[in-house]
Amino acid sequence: MPIHTTPTGWVLETGSTGYALGLNSAGLLVHTYWGARLPRPEDYPTPPVPREWASFNGIAHLAREEYPAYAGTQYNEPCFKATFANGVRDAVWVFEGAETTTGAQPQLTLRLRDAAYPLRLALHYRLHEALDLIERWAEIHNPGSEELTLERVFSALWHVPTGESYTLAHLNGKWLDEFHILREELLPGVKALESRRITTSHHHNPWFLLERAAAPASETAGEAWFGVLAWSGSWKLAAEVNDFGSTRVGIGINDWDFVWRLNPGETFTTPASLGGYTQHGRGAASRRLHDYIRRQVLPHGAELHKVLYNSWEATTFNVDEESQIELAELAAEMGVELFVMDDGWFHGRDDDHAGLGDWWPDEGKFPHGLGGLARRVNQLGMDFGLWVEPEMVNPNSELYRAHPDWAIHFPGRVPTQARNQLILNFARSDVQDYIIEKLDRLLTETNIAFIKWDMNRNVSEPGWEGAPGDPREIWVRYVQGVYRVWGTLRERHPRVIWQSCSGGGGRADLGILRLADQVWVSDNTEPCARLSIQEGFSQVFPANVMEAWVTDSGPEYLSLEFRLHVSMCGSLGIGGHLKHWGPTLRAEAAHWIAVYKEVRAIIQQGDQFRLRSPQAYAYSAVQYLAKDQGEGVLFAFRTHLAPPAPTPALRLQGLAPEALYTLEGFPGARSGRSWMEAGVQIELQDFHSTLRRIQRVA
Ligand code: GLA
Repeated sequence: MPIHTTPTGWVLETGSTGYALGLNSAGLLVHTYWGARLPRPEDYPTPPVPREWASFNGIAHLAREEYPAYAGTQYNEPCFKATFANGVRDAVWVFEGAETTTGAQPQLTLRLRDAAYPLRLALHYRLHEALDLIERWAEIHNPGSEELTLERVFSALWHVPTGESYTLAHLNGKWLDEFHILREELLPGVKALESRRITTSHHHNPWFLLERAAAPASETAGEAWFGVLAWSGSWKLAAEVNDFGSTRVGIGINDWDFVWRLNPGETFTTPASLGGYTQHGRGAASRRLHDYIRRQVLPHGAELHKVLYNSWEATTFNVDEESQIELAELAAEMGVELFVMDDGWFHGRDDDHAGLGDWWPDEGKFPHGLGGLARRVNQLGMDFGLWVEPEMVNPNSELYRAHPDWAIHFPGRVPTQARNQLILNFARSDVQDYIIEKLDRLLTETNIAFIKWDMNRNVSEPGWEGAPGDPREIWVRYVQGVYRVWGTLRERHPRVIWQSCSGGGGRADLGILRLADQVWVSDNTEPCARLSIQEGFSQVFPANVMEAWVTDSGPEYLSLEFRLHVSMCGSLGIGGHLKHWGPTLRAEAAHWIAVYKEVRAIIQQGDQFRLRSPQAYAYSAVQYLAKDQGEGVLFAFRTHLAPPAPTPALRLQGLAPEALYTLEGFPGARSGRSWMEAGVQIELQDFHSTLRRIQRVA
């Protein structure tokens, strides 16, 4: 039984973890345990006796509340803050009851209400037993006859054991420079990470990993508590160490400039937060998320991605049938399986000053539509894909001239343009319907197998004239609108593979991955930088989600082989100017594309082991292993190492210890244990790389 009801509360168990909570004698719902699974339900701690400390710290402030509201003398970061119609601005939870369900994904629902006012809260816990993860979200319901104003509604508060210091790992970056892994010790106070950009952002990602400061985890061992938020809008993470040694991470929709008017009878549902605990280090935490994303989140999580060619860096906005067919023919010869035409194909789009919003083929560049190009691409044996940026509008467009009010703006202010564009108010259903109609027509008229959905700026002047509720609901309703448009198109065209791009990795999260199978990780395609970006990305996302192109960045100092090896660590794509590559480079690329096709199932669907960090070392390595441990691939990269530079031993991971394996380039077989314990040294020169296949032979 994964969910146990005990005399004081509940114990939630997944494969190897336990999570316990209960009601203390003061009636507060408190957290009691998150860690290794214990033998018996009675083994889990029960809620401690409530205590206060002096007149300044009340019972609730010292308790580890599971979902604290702003109320009383509780001054920790709350999960919930609301104002009732009469101006009362707190919420006092009273426990009402619990429900459990069994089945493949057992669920616990805890029902609470306010002590005096019409307000109901449901806390949901869904267990992913085999994946060892707990999914949490909250529902707020207004059963009264007056409106309720929500000001903060987090998805979850994750508590870690008290009395310890923790290190917080998180992802940080900016455009062209995403996914740096930062680690910092949490000291008393609140460390906030957030996006105020109406999208996930390049700057921080809604992911955290906590380790004991005194015993940090490694890739292969040690305790880690980690989690994510499945949301593609503004979000907030508040990692707090309070004055009584309690560390907790609250995560949810950002409350900055946020208000939600909850009318009588309405319910507000938060996005989900997913959390996990492991004793096997950072690598195990990532692999858990990878498996969850592939099995539970992605629309086509079990399918292998095709090798794609994207013509953006070759032709930029100067696309037409002839130039694209020329590139498509070269791509097909190399073994490419999907040809994607990027920006520049639609009405009036000659550069980035015009056209966004007018989603039909440009009459000058494609006088007969896109059908001819798509057919030729299909004849060449490839799928056809297209770039769109549906949330955007250029002031110089038919759409803007017809509906200037559809762009997000504050009346009386000059709307700030970025890349000469404004954002359409996707919170409005008429805007959503317009985009659905235009993109549906495109997908119906042309045989399109792949769409790259881009978003090249963040919000400014977030006004919404005529909003049915509070205009500040735009922060959430915009994202819901994106989900509705994208979800509707997905339903109508279920075979299409979508990619989430936002100037590179600006929208990578578990919310968008319910719609998009892939993420364009960064506009930075310089391969050495990519190694680091890819390592950061892999903390959360599996290799099949990580689209990686070889472009014309780096050939002055890097071989095509090195550049291809970097991109082969994810879902391989090519983005260079194939005409300029010439027959020799194209033949070399064709060779590696063929190799990639042989190993891609291992890379895209297997387990990933980060053997040596490119963010930390100039000699780095990553290994992928099929789930049955029978076959693997090892990549090693050396950028610049100042002499003397001894070659590090790479200790393989995840092999069956007693089985025998060969490693390409080394004579004979060795036991899995030998490859993992004694490791292997692979000599490389500066700016060289290697791909070695691993094979179980006995
Ligand atoms: C963004 C994307 C690029 C490309 C351009 C097109 O920058 O990240 O890959 O699609 O837009 O304008």
